[in-house]
Amino acid sequence: MANCFCHWRRALICVCTPFISLALLLVYIMVMLCTAISSVPGTMPQNPHFVAPGTFKNESYAPLPKSFWDTNLPGQAIWNRLQLTIERRFNPILRPNKRMRGFKNSICNESILKNVYSEVTDANKNDDNLPQQIKDFQRYMHRRDYPLLLQPDGVCGAGAQDEKEPPLLLLAIKSTLLNFKNRHVIRQTWGQGGWVDGHKRNSNGGGYVRRVFLLGKENTDELGVDLSEILQMESKRYGDLLQWDFRDTFFNLTLKDVLFWKWFSSSCGQTSFVFKGDDDVFVNTPNMLSYLKGEIKKLQAHETMKGFMVGDVIVSALPNRANKSKYYVPESFFKGQYPSYAGGGGVVYSGLLAKRLHDVSERVTLYPIDDVYVGMCMVRLNAGPVHHPAFLTFDFRGKEEDQLCSYHGILLVHRRLPNQVLKLWANMKQTEAQCLDMPLRGADRRNTTAVS
Ligand SMILES: *[C@@H]1O[C@H](CO)[C@@H](O)[C@H](O)[C@H]1NC(C)=O
Ligand SMILES: *[C@@H]1O[C@H](CO)[C@@H](O)[C@H](O)[C@H]1NC(C)=O
Ligand SMILES: *[C@@H]1O[C@H](CO)[C@@H](O)[C@H](O)[C@H]1NC(C)=O
Ligand SMILES: *[C@@H]1O[C@H](CO)[C@@H](O)[C@H](O)[C@H]1NC(C)=O
Ligand SMILES: *[C@@H]1O[C@H](CO)[C@@H](O)[C@H](O)[C@H]1NC(C)=O
Repeated sequence: MANCFCHWRRALICVCTPFISLALLLVYIMVMLCTAISSVPGTMPQNPHFVAPGTFKNESYAPLPKSFWDTNLPGQAIWNRLQLTIERRFNPILRPNKRMRGFKNSICNESILKNVYSEVTDANKNDDNLPQQIKDFQRYMHRRDYPLLLQPDGVCGAGAQDEKEPPLLLLAIKSTLLNFKNRHVIRQTWGQGGWVDGHKRNSNGGGYVRRVFLLGKENTDELGVDLSEILQMESKRYGDLLQWDFRDTFFNLTLKDVLFWKWFSSSCGQTSFVFKGDDDVFVNTPNMLSYLKGEIKKLQAHETMKGFMVGDVIVSALPNRANKSKYYVPESFFKGQYPSYAGGGGVVYSGLLAKRLHDVSERVTLYPIDDVYVGMCMVRLNAGPVHHPAFLTFDFRGKEEDQLCSYHGILLVHRRLPNQVLKLWANMKQTEAQCLDMPLRGADRRNTTAVS
């Protein structure tokens, strides 16, 4: 009898223990899930930078919010909902250390994105008032696997002869098919590859520079002629074209970032810094090289190289809601404020950061404004761009430009036509001796260490 009772008890324990363990495990998972879901998208921090509308800039570091998209808005916008879905699919319990290893092909591949996307957009189908470019963007925003049409032969851009050390700087310049002249002038002036001396005011030397132009594809029907053979000739001759098979439109510019990072990660192992900018800017390359040479030691000493990005930082920007604007983003597409971002006219970041941006971009939904998208990826890396007053993406102020040495004190100025660039470059050479003492703008006032 006692034996029988014992037998039953043992059986009971055998049966019950797994259930109890399972229940405990379930409770644990639920708790983890709740904390994960509530902590990943987060809420907008009470930061003064993110309350005021409009833009302002100063030299303090960009704020580092946990998240810039509010997850609890009523009637959520498409981008916000897509991003939230991706956040949830990126299960923080399975990958608690926020690393993306193995993430690439399992969670965010295109077929899954497409499914997620159609779930979200089905609810927003009746929105016919949208401008065409937003509609075009929405239709293809799950796609990023556009093939390469042209690329430099097995190297990281033009300028690779007889390098005695790894390149210091890769110039990655956004261009379009028809801007032959811009490219030609850049090659002869500030975009020369090979060894380039730094500014003579300090003995930082210089570095090896490489160059690549980023292009999409032009619609041959709209253009009336097929210029692809001429582009092939240009590519053969200069070896500095990277072209992908997508339409080269304003809202597709983000693809140039994403696809460039991919190409960079596989082709440019050793490059220390990347300059990414427009083909209508003037860059003071000697200043840039001296500046970067000076930063490199500090960055390595502080181990902040992996988060280094510098440019003209815009904080507290809101999406443009004027429906005639080139930058118009409707509320049905995105709600919230923009993260701090470096103006897309020209920005410099470390090669290490480029690779990290490549990884993290897989789980940030494409956004039609390219520099804002880079800012979004930076937030996901818990990093932020550093402002530098020598990046003049909104040009000189007042009469400052007319001073003899004004161009010797800058890193970059936005909007210069090819002819102006030629003249400025020649002028710079002529006034070199006179302007030797011209300091870099803001060099006296600031003290950079990147946030990582
Ligand atoms: C930058 O702007 C913020 C917000 O207005 C302000 O609190 C901060 O003091 C400013 N920093 C500098 C260096 O002016
Ligand atoms: C995408 O993920 C699905 C499901 O995990 C898988 O069946 C498919 O092969 C993946 N596609 C690619 C291109 O990796
Ligand atoms: C981006 O390029 C793709 C591929 O060529 C095209 O289908 C799409 O319409 C383009 N998007 C925009 C917003 O122009
Ligand atoms: C654009 O905005 C104006 C006023 O801001 C409005 O009257 C007009 O209907 C809008 N157009 C579209 C296509 O939404
Ligand atoms: C920069 O800041 C660091 C620490 O904040 C300080 O030690 C260093 O002297 C500063 N450098 C300059 C040039 O002001």
